[in-house]
Amino acid sequence: MDASIRAARLSTSELMLLQERYGTNHYVPYPIAMAQGRNVYLWDLDKKKYLDMNATYSAIAVGHNHPEMNQVLIRQLNKLTSVSNMFLNEHAPILLMELCKLTGLDRAILMNTGAEAFETAVKAVRRWAYRKKGIPAGKAEIIVATNNFHGRTINAISASSEEKYRQDFGPFVPGFVLVPFGNSNALAAAIKPETAAIIVEPIQGEGGVNVPSTDYMCEISELCAKYNMLLCFDEVQTGLGRTGKLFAFEHWLIEPDLVMLGKALGGYVPISAVVGKDKVMSGFTPGSHGSTFGGNPLACAVALKSIELITRFDCELVRNANETGGYLLRKLTKRLELNPKVLEIRGRGLLIGIALDPEELSAADARTKLLQCGIVAGAASNNVLRLSPPLTFTKTHVNLALPRIVCALTT
Ligand SMILES: Cc1ncc(COP(=O)(O)O)c(C=O)c1O
Repeated sequence: MDASIRAARLSTSELMLLQERYGTNHYVPYPIAMAQGRNVYLWDLDKKKYLDMNATYSAIAVGHNHPEMNQVLIRQLNKLTSVSNMFLNEHAPILLMELCKLTGLDRAILMNTGAEAFETAVKAVRRWAYRKKGIPAGKAEIIVATNNFHGRTINAISASSEEKYRQDFGPFVPGFVLVPFGNSNALAAAIKPETAAIIVEPIQGEGGVNVPSTDYMCEISELCAKYNMLLCFDEVQTGLGRTGKLFAFEHWLIEPDLVMLGKALGGYVPISAVVGKDKVMSGFTPGSHGSTFGGNPLACAVALKSIELITRFDCELVRNANETGGYLLRKLTKRLELNPKVLEIRGRGLLIGIALDPEELSAADARTKLLQCGIVAGAASNNVLRLSPPLTFTKTHVNLALPRIVCALTT
């Protein structure tokens, strides 16, 4: 690297030039360089302050720059960050146990990203299908829902209904059957003897914050039991408190066979996990799956602290997500119900979507307007503005944000 560039403190516009010249266009960043975070706030290089209502796409649960998280990171950095998986490390087995206790499931496997959790889940399901259910080799099918988001790998986009994720990336991986999200009759009609599992987000995040009905969730659980299919929840976004329960599936008192976690599990560093029943997870044999960094001691130490903070004081942060999220939803509904640009406001806990009329305002433009008012929000599919602040967000923060959101969506 050019030493003068490395030593220099580049301005936002200089950084933007480098990004545009040397980066690819898979993200089109705003000309804003975030430089500092603390709890629910971010500061850019020019010291402008923002209220973070995106939390790195729901990953930052405990707030930015949490002193206890930093302490764990620094302590582990000074000891050991990664080591060959031919050895144990002092954190991974404890994390596996914690994940099993929290979910009520039997075994877990550690990976790095949400997309890898999905890959891992698909492999676990297929092994179970051939070795336990007796589906003929190569024939297993997995039912997935329209508007899903399981990541950007070829496998994940093969399961996707979104053309923008798939265009010119084929050929795709066979074995995924798409049915409309929330429609259990369509799901029942898609079941065949070769169907191994349904993989679904209990509440869709990227797909537009779509909350299914209780009937749907109970029916898919019953169908899985009836037809010996695995019920698998992608809780990469919803898991660990986001929706006001530790896991979103708890809203419906149903019991999954497998759960995928990511994002908030590490928050500060990438780590993901798949946790499942013994009958599914025991399919992994030596060499059948793995990842160099999966379960590294740094990420595991951080994940253990993350879990500790999220579940501390009888899950205070989870209860806060429920209460503050409910407050935010009620206030937004009251202030925006007569706004012609707003079609619907929905969500659970601190995962809230404001569905906008595309004729009136695009979610991307709404996000830009909010940014100008000092609020970082997300734009999900189907023209939905997505609010997912850290779980430390309080009613005071809601009261700060509300007039700015209302103003940005009104003017
Ligand atoms: C439900 C769900 N699954 C998987 C992923 C992919 O996670 P990652 O971006 O860490 O690969 C996401 C990311 O938004 C997600 O929301």
